[in-house]
Amino acid sequence: MVPGPAVKRVIDANKNQVFASVEAAYRLHDSGSTLNPDSYFLRYPSNPSARIIALPAHIGGEVQKSGIKWISSFPANRATNLARASAVLILNDASTGYPLACLEASLISATRTAASAALAAESISPNPFAGTLAVIGTGIIARTTVEWLLFRNWNFDRIKLYDVDHNEAEHFSKWLRDQCNLQANIQDSLADAVTDSSLILFTTTALDPYLADKELFAQSPTVLHLSLRDICVNVILASQNIVDDVDHCLKANTSLHLTEMQTGNRNFVSGSLVDVLEKRFKLDPQRPRIFSPFGLGVLDVAVGNFVLEAAKSSGEAVELPDFFSNSARW
Ligand SMILES: NC(=O)c1ccc[n+]([C@@H]2O[C@H](COP(=O)([O-])OP(=O)(O)OC[C@H]3O[C@@H](n4cnc5c(N)ncnc54)[C@H](O)[C@@H]3O)[C@@H](O)[C@H]2O)c1
Repeated sequence: MVPGPAVKRVIDANKNQVFASVEAAYRLHDSGSTLNPDSYFLRYPSNPSARIIALPAHIGGEVQKSGIKWISSFPANRATNLARASAVLILNDASTGYPLACLEASLISATRTAASAALAAESISPNPFAGTLAVIGTGIIARTTVEWLLFRNWNFDRIKLYDVDHNEAEHFSKWLRDQCNLQANIQDSLADAVTDSSLILFTTTALDPYLADKELFAQSPTVLHLSLRDICVNVILASQNIVDDVDHCLKANTSLHLTEMQTGNRNFVSGSLVDVLEKRFKLDPQRPRIFSPFGLGVLDVAVGNFVLEAAKSSGEAVELPDFFSNSARW
């Protein structure tokens, strides 16, 4: 068992290796050395914003681990200062199938999301590591992503924040000031935050797209569309779209899925992040470049496996001897 504080210590102490494990997992996925079936959604008809998702996955290559992340998303938790997401990750031995470990996974999930967003940001921006950042939806995933952008040495001339809940933007601004020594401007509207920003991060909990004005992206920004359901079909169609996995991204009523349903094709997707890293298509600096990652279970298994091995080495993993007391057949 690896509890949250141990997960945090391992990640904080090994950010370069965690970043490398995320990129390696994407590359293994690209080369066909992973299994990443569809996520499974438990939804509540009486509470449509809440869900619990199961993400099973297997990584081959040198990792050879399987696992499943079971992650809850309850946006209303925010009202009592409880994080929206909570999660566990079970890792399995891929040769016997036996579960090996249970890890606290909300931080693993946020970390793999943020590290992959940072990798995308520097890979798809014409002038990376500088410019004006806009953060739309200033919660936990935004905070983690900004931490990783700063870790990767982005240096912003300006940071603009917009959240439908002004208090959330105030919390974020205070965190930036106290923890990162950075000043941010809280904006009163989406348009004020987005206009003239070169890197735009969407981390809201919107269920339906609302950004329909193409002029808001007239400066051809790099867009990290982590919340997947913010940008309307006409703006998706006017942009270059980069995904983590096209089959996954065009599901569950994401902006890209709605675009496919409206157009009847997938021609608006240029390719995956690994296609960008491998220069298999040309990035277009004259159009907005939108990275929409569905969030692959293979990333959770990759980061979780790294955390487990490091926590075992440092003695921070909690052993449960004889958990499978009946595993011998006779
Ligand atoms: N693609 C991925 O791999 C991935 C992984 C993890 C989380 N996510 C997504 O990231 C999003 C954010 O997660 P979180 O844990 O930070 O949530 P959170 O509840 O901590 O923060 C979300 C913030 O967005 C704000 N918000 C909601 N609707 C808005 C709107 N229309 N405009 C501006 N602000 C708005 C809320 O007030 C809140 O402050 C979620 O949608 C989650 O599903 C994506």
